[in-house]
Amino acid sequence: MKSLWCGIINTNCISLSIVFVLKNLKGNLCYLTVSPAGPVSVEALVGTNVTLGVSHAGASQPEVMWFMGSRLIAKWTVGDDSLPNVASNILKPEQDGSLTFINVPLSYNSTYTVEMTKIGEAKVSATFDLFVYDIIMNVSLHTASDDAVEGEVKFTLYYSTMRGEAKEVRWLFNGLQLKNGSHYSIGGKKLTINQLSRNDTGRYTVLLTNPFSSETHHRNVTVLYGPDLPVLKVSPTKAVFVSGESLFLSCQAEGEPAPSTSWFFNGESIATSPAGTVHLNNVKTSQSGVYTCVMVNTRTEVTLERNVTVIVYEPPSGGPLCSVQAVNGSAALQFLCLWPGGAPEAQVSFPGLSYNASGYSNYSITINDIQRLNGQEIICKAEHPLNQTQCSVIPRGPVDFLPVVLTSMSEDERTMVVIHCSAEATPEALVLWIKNGEHLQTGSKYQISTNTAQLFIHDFNATSTDLDTYTCTATNPLGNTTVDTTLLGPQISNSSVFLSDDQTEVTLTWHVPLTSVITGFDIQMKGPELSSPSQPKRNIMSDFCTIKVMPASAGNTTVSGLDPKSTYYFRIVPKAGRTAGEPSEQLRIGPAAGLSGAAIAGLAAGLPCAVLVLLVVLGFICCGTRDRSPRYPVSRAVEKVVICRSTLLRGRLKPPPEYRLHQTERSGPLPSVNSGVRMATTV
Ligand SMILES: *[C@@H]1O[C@H](CO)[C@@H](O)[C@H](O)[C@H]1NC(C)=O
Ligand SMILES: *[C@@H]1O[C@H](CO)[C@@H](O)[C@H](O)[C@H]1NC(C)=O
Ligand SMILES: *[C@@H]1O[C@H](CO)[C@@H](O)[C@H](O)[C@H]1NC(C)=O
Ligand SMILES: *[C@@H]1O[C@H](CO)[C@@H](O)[C@H](O)[C@H]1NC(C)=O
Ligand SMILES: *[C@@H]1O[C@H](CO)[C@@H](O)[C@H](O)[C@H]1NC(C)=O
Ligand SMILES: *[C@@H]1O[C@H](CO)[C@@H](O)[C@H](O)[C@H]1NC(C)=O
Repeated sequence: MKSLWCGIINTNCISLSIVFVLKNLKGNLCYLTVSPAGPVSVEALVGTNVTLGVSHAGASQPEVMWFMGSRLIAKWTVGDDSLPNVASNILKPEQDGSLTFINVPLSYNSTYTVEMTKIGEAKVSATFDLFVYDIIMNVSLHTASDDAVEGEVKFTLYYSTMRGEAKEVRWLFNGLQLKNGSHYSIGGKKLTINQLSRNDTGRYTVLLTNPFSSETHHRNVTVLYGPDLPVLKVSPTKAVFVSGESLFLSCQAEGEPAPSTSWFFNGESIATSPAGTVHLNNVKTSQSGVYTCVMVNTRTEVTLERNVTVIVYEPPSGGPLCSVQAVNGSAALQFLCLWPGGAPEAQVSFPGLSYNASGYSNYSITINDIQRLNGQEIICKAEHPLNQTQCSVIPRGPVDFLPVVLTSMSEDERTMVVIHCSAEATPEALVLWIKNGEHLQTGSKYQISTNTAQLFIHDFNATSTDLDTYTCTATNPLGNTTVDTTLLGPQISNSSVFLSDDQTEVTLTWHVPLTSVITGFDIQMKGPELSSPSQPKRNIMSDFCTIKVMPASAGNTTVSGLDPKSTYYFRIVPKAGRTAGEPSEQLRIGPAAGLSGAAIAGLAAGLPCAVLVLLVVLGFICCGTRDRSPRYPVSRAVEKVVICRSTLLRGRLKPPPEYRLHQTERSGPLPSVNSGVRMATTV
């Protein structure tokens, strides 16, 4: 039917008018034409039969030639029964000029051209594309390099198949189709990722399709990276730790794989937990410093190092100590401020002395212009990061003072007198001792204490020139003070007596001058003997007898066992070693109001002692004589006899104790007799 209409539709006809004239004539008046009988692009599965179909018009029995590319593969005459020139069992010429491929192999994938010719006619042709596909099988995906590492310029995934080619290739990343662009380059059988980053970690899929099959394949790609910039932490978060505290160091960084962490201090590896932390327990100042965290990506061997500084401080021990001392051989003062033991060292300064007067732990500054500093508080500012404090010292010249006299007696009754000249002064004063215009030095008689504040007078003889004025001068760079101490022999400045309500007991009290040299007191009594259960009978003691010995520290005593109806006289005899001083006034108690103390004394003197010695078994030595002291001491053996037998006092006759310890500073009103000058200076 087509051939009938060829004159109308085919431009090969001479002219429309001729076509019209020859309308009813035979068709061979038209030119030869050839056209595909189906699609010109043919897809075929390998091994199947496929035909490239053509039809022709305008001439009968034209010669047909098929070319694969430019190579002639078949030639025959349409309508001819014999089909020569086909040297293949794959190609099968058809009567109408079409070409059939039997069990088409992949190698017949090509462009085919059919040409038809007829004598007297122009050569005509048509072109086909034959695509032979196989079933896609065994797709695999592989990468150009083993490890994908972040920052790589290119990372490529390849696919391959064991059978079958794809007509269409699609790449997917985590299920989303990838597009050709700046990050992904798709082409050939590969996917190239440009500038690989950690975000490219994921599942890659290639989807291969052809008209007969489709296959997908996945591959997981892990992009290695890190360690990233780590986060270093010191917990608790503190700028400064105090020794003894505990802390944790941690170091964390992102990475694939997660980096392994180790810590170093001073170049030495330190114990690190699997989590990469370090526990420092009970830190010491030696643990202050830079800690280095080293992180390694074990796959890529990329190493990162970071430092963190831990500061451990220790406060200095105690508080700062301020002091001032004289500088040998000059009138200067050295101020010291000491605050050791801290870490870091404490800064100590004397802002009041000089702007830049500062140092560490132990600082001293010497000042020459010192008089203006007398009595001024000099402050040392002591500053440590953990503690700010201060100390101060007030330099002072020696101030007026009271000397203190102490007396003691050794076993062999040798008396030692100590004079203390403890002048308050900062720095401590040096004391010079002078007697009779002569400097006293340490020797057999005198001894001066190391701090010079005490003078020891050995073998003190209360009847010799030992009783004299001793001058002490306390000196420091800021001034000096001189005090005279006039030592007095044993004496009582005043005394009194109190009788108890039942009149059988008296209390004697007495005072002595401050500078009186005294090692003890004899308490003497005159009157009826004291009663006691063993000896109720009372003899009359017509002269003073020692009934009690009191230490130098004593200022009162009680005597009991008195006969309320009798009259008694008491007196106190001060003693310095063996030297007895003038007794106190006589203290009378009892009804005999008519007699004065002097009368009694006179009466006593009139009675011969010897008679009494005979009357009383042991006998008494009269002690009540009014001798003026000093008088020579009697020997100890004799003295024992002197003690009235009837005295039953508990203390009896112990040797006088070492008074040094008991003897307290005698305070109280200074007797004016003693040292008026000193009074004037001390008050
Ligand atoms: C292909 O053609 C051959 C020869 O004509 C025939 O034997 C065979 O059965 C055909 N195959 C198919 C699948 O049609
Ligand atoms: C190809 O794939 C098929 C099925 O998927 C499998 O049976 C065969 O072993 C594979 N061949 C190879 C060489 O991997
Ligand atoms: C992708 O782009 C490149 C050039 O950028 C090009 O050569 C390639 O053919 C493209 N591939 C696809 C599938 O578009
Ligand atoms: C790849 O990753 C997916 C999840 O992202 C997982 O389900 C799958 O098992 C992985 N495949 C391989 C071969 O590791
Ligand atoms: C860390 O400290 C050490 C020693 O103090 C030093 O040598 C190193 O350069 C420091 N490293 C860094 C990254 O600051
Ligand atoms: C005490 O001094 C006097 C006078 O200097 C002297 O006669 C006496 O022997 C001395 N006594 C003692 C125990 O030394």
